[in-house]
Amino acid sequence: MTTAADAIALDEELAGQPEASAVALRDGSQVVIRPVGRADAPLLADGFARLSPESRRMRFLRRKDELTPAEVRYFTDVDHHDHEALGALDRAGGRGVGVARYVRDTGDPQSAEIAVTVVDDWQGRGLGAELLARLSGRARAAGIRRFTALVSADNAAMAGLLRSVSASPVHGEYGAVEYEIPLAPAAGSGSDRQRAVGGHDGRGQGGGSHQVAVDGGRCATALGERPHEQ
Ligand SMILES: CC(C)(COP(=O)(O)OP(=O)(O)OC[C@H]1O[C@@H](n2cnc3c(N)ncnc32)[C@H](O)[C@@H]1OP(=O)(O)O)[C@@H](O)C(=O)NCCC(=O)NCCS
Repeated sequence: MTTAADAIALDEELAGQPEASAVALRDGSQVVIRPVGRADAPLLADGFARLSPESRRMRFLRRKDELTPAEVRYFTDVDHHDHEALGALDRAGGRGVGVARYVRDTGDPQSAEIAVTVVDDWQGRGLGAELLARLSGRARAAGIRRFTALVSADNAAMAGLLRSVSASPVHGEYGAVEYEIPLAPAAGSGSDRQRAVGGHDGRGQGGGSHQVAVDGGRCATALGERPHEQ
């Protein structure tokens, strides 16, 4: 249950974290978006517990009933360079409501796989797009030039989100489609910006001002199905 104390605690956290931003979504609800850290393991586990079976399947490309402690560790113990994750917290209650991550491709350091997840009752408010835009800004700063995303062929929401950032389907296999998303160069030309994910650096006060807003990726691999890395 949301309490005034929760909200105050989150605002104090916001004040103490230069990398945290308050963002108003288009329905007026507010989130705090910030990089994920090890201490967020309980928040991430709680968020997963509130995902519908269908959202879990879309995220992991298979039925997924639970996250193991090793998976929770993998998802939260990120180095913020080769593996970045941004989390969104409900500003009113402090619970986790969305996360977007990229994992750099070891064979191609300018490329990274992405995944975006928004808990069901927060979907459709623009949060996925906001997270994706912010993740894009951080990825560009880390030298990443393109995202890839492996998406279930029946995932209309993610396909729609990716379409909105000019992603192209490049490959299809076993009921999944791989997309490639060019990232606008940090100081790119106007035409580059229109074609590629715009994003921003994720700092400062938000307000749904993203040029685009998203989170995606090779959901079943880089983003959670590498047990040996978890
Ligand atoms: C995919 C997902 C991250 C989208 O997040 P979201 O916050 O609901 O999306 P947004 O509200 O930011 O929508 C952004 C754009 O995506 C598209 N979109 C979102 N939901 C859609 C839907 N159900 N059908 C078609 N397009 C949709 C639209 O273009 C939308 O822009 P618009 O609202 O201006 O029309 C979310 O649905 C989710 O977490 N799904 C379960 C997990 C998952 O599938 N993750 C992807 C793994 S690769």
